[in-house]
Amino acid sequence: MPDARKPLISGNWKMHHNHFEAIQTVQKLSYALDAEDALAVDVSVHPPFTDLRSVQTVIESDKMDIALGAQNCHWEDKGAFTGEVAPPMLAKLNVKYVIVGHSERRELFGETDDDVNRKARAVFAAEMTPILCCGETLDEREASTTEAKVEGQVRAGLAKLSKDQVGAMVVAYEPIWAIGTGRTASAEDAQAVCGFIRGVVSSVAGADAAASVRIQYGGSVKPNNAAELMAQPDIDGALVGGASLDADDFSKIVRYRLA
Ligand code: 13P
Repeated sequence: MPDARKPLISGNWKMHHNHFEAIQTVQKLSYALDAEDALAVDVSVHPPFTDLRSVQTVIESDKMDIALGAQNCHWEDKGAFTGEVAPPMLAKLNVKYVIVGHSERRELFGETDDDVNRKARAVFAAEMTPILCCGETLDEREASTTEAKVEGQVRAGLAKLSKDQVGAMVVAYEPIWAIGTGRTASAEDAQAVCGFIRGVVSSVAGADAAASVRIQYGGSVKPNNAAELMAQPDIDGALVGGASLDADDFSKIVRYRLA
């Protein structure tokens, strides 16, 4: 179980940075952070699969306080699934967190709620922690169906997980209209949905799980808006895309408390 909701700031690099660039970025990030940061905040980086082994090696040889993360996985341990990567392969690289159900996977690659739930369960089975993503489109927000969409994704994503697993995992609320657009949800709107998600978690897995699950906000998080988002009572971290590619910007987000 993590400390009582220690913030988790995660950098999702998506399909950016080859393994040389990834090594440089993680080294720069580690120089910019200190021991106080590690006490205050958990940090993870989620490079492309081809970078994982290289980034693992620098993180471990330099004893960095940065956790390794992946962006996706398959739900089976092995088999004839050309192009897929199995959770035990990630665990072998000391990957700690695996993003499941990112909106880009759902929208561009057709992942269903059921697929995402299988992935979440497989990540736990391999002794890693899933970061389960949810979030509405602009049309859904304008039609006032944000809560229905997010509740459906979260309930489906948490199916068949134990209460302890739910309490130990991470849910990321990422409104799709805020991803890569420079348009951030206001801190109040982000809090409203993250608070709603905590209520859904409580109804699925009980109050203890809801009190310890970490809920991240994602969608155009930048150095200049991180502190306000992180000040919200139900926002326990950030899932950062574009701004995590630059070590300076990402370190400023990690150090939001000094802003
Ligand atoms: P941006 O921070 O680039 O908006 O991306 C958010 C995201 O999708 C992180 O998973």
